Amino acid sequence: MTQVQPQTIAGQTIQEQPVQATLPKHISPGETPEQHAAFEARIAAGDKIEPGDWMPAEYRRQLIRMISQHAHSEVVGMLPEGEWISQAPTLKRKTILMAKVQDEAGHGQYLYHAAETLGATREEMLEALLTRKAKYSSIFNYPTLTWADVGMIGWLVDGAAIKNQTMLAGCSYGPYSRAMVRICSEETFHHKQGKEMIVAYAQGTPEQRRMAQDALDRWWWPAVQMLGPHDSDSPNTGVLSRWGIKLKSNDEVRQEFVNEHVPELLEAGLTLPDPDMHQNEQGNWIHGPINWDEFWAVIKGEAGLGNERLATRQAAHDEGAWVRDALQAYADRQRRSASEAAD
Ligand SMILES: [Fe+2]
Ligand SMILES: [Fe+2]
Repeated sequence: MTQVQPQTIAGQTIQEQPVQATLPKHISPGETPEQHAAFEARIAAGDKIEPGDWMPAEYRRQLIRMISQHAHSEVVGMLPEGEWISQAPTLKRKTILMAKVQDEAGHGQYLYHAAETLGATREEMLEALLTRKAKYSSIFNYPTLTWADVGMIGWLVDGAAIKNQTMLAGCSYGPYSRAMVRICSEETFHHKQGKEMIVAYAQGTPEQRRMAQDALDRWWWPAVQMLGPHDSDSPNTGVLSRWGIKLKSNDEVRQEFVNEHVPELLEAGLTLPDPDMHQNEQGNWIHGPINWDEFWAVIKGEAGLGNERLATRQAAHDEGAWVRDALQAYADRQRRSASEAAD
C-alpha cells in the first residue's frame, strides 16, 4: 500500500487516508484490509457466513448475481420439459415429469429466498430476468424436439447441475449452502429418472433407440458447455474461489461430469457425438474442442429460444398478477385484524 505523508492544515496534522484506488478491486470503498482479513479467516476456518454478519460488498454482489441467476435458471428450466407434460406416453411418466417440473419451481423459490437474505427483492430480481438484465443458464434455450429429450435432460442437464450444486452445497454462504443440500437430493431423483428412461429406450425398439441417440446428439455439447467457460475465460472465478463460494473450477467440475457420464452412456449402447473423446492414462475421459461460438450466441439470444422462453415467462408473470394481488390483499387484511385486536 502506498505510504501517504501527513499534511498540516490550519495547524492540525491530518493523516490522509490511503487512496482507495491502491486497494485491490475486491475491497470496496469504506472497507478496510483488516475487515477483509477477519472475514477471510472465518472462511478459512470453515465458518458459514450468515445474513446478519459483516461481509464485503463485493461478496454480497457476487452472491446476489449468482443466486438470482441460479433461481432464474430453475424457473425457466421448467419450460422446455413442461411442454411435454400433456404428451407423456404413460401415466407413470406423466406423474414423474409433473413432480420434476414442480420441484424446479420449488428450487427457484428456495433460491429467491436465499438471495432475499442478502437484500435483493423478488420484484427487482424478476424485473432483471424479464428485462434481460439478468442471465439464466442458456441450456434452457434449446428446443425439446421429442419425448426422449425429457429423459436426456434429466440424465445430462440435471446430471451436470448436480455436479455444480454438490460443490455449492459446501459454499461459504449459509443460506445458499443449505438450499443446495435440499435441492441436490431432489436433483438426484431427476437424474435417476432421466437415466432410467434413456437406458430403457436405448435397449428398446429401433425407433426408441433412434430417438435416444438423436437426443444425445443434440444435448451432449450443450451439457458440456453448461458448466461454464474454461477457467482461463471465467473472469469471476478468482474472487469466487477466494471467498469459498466456488470450491472447484469450471474445468474441474466439467471433468467430473464427463468422467461419470461417458462410460454410462457408452454402456447404454449410445455413441457420443465427439470423435475426439478418449480416455487418457490417468483414467480421465478427454473431450474434443468445445464450440464456444455457439454457447455465446445462445447466451446473447442470437441463437436458440431465448425470446420465446422470456415471452412465456412474461405471460405467466402477467397472468399471475391477480394471485399476487389476492395474496397481498389477504396479508393486508390479516395485518389490519391483528392490529385491531391489539388495540
Ligand atoms: Fe432444479
Ligand atoms: Fe432438476
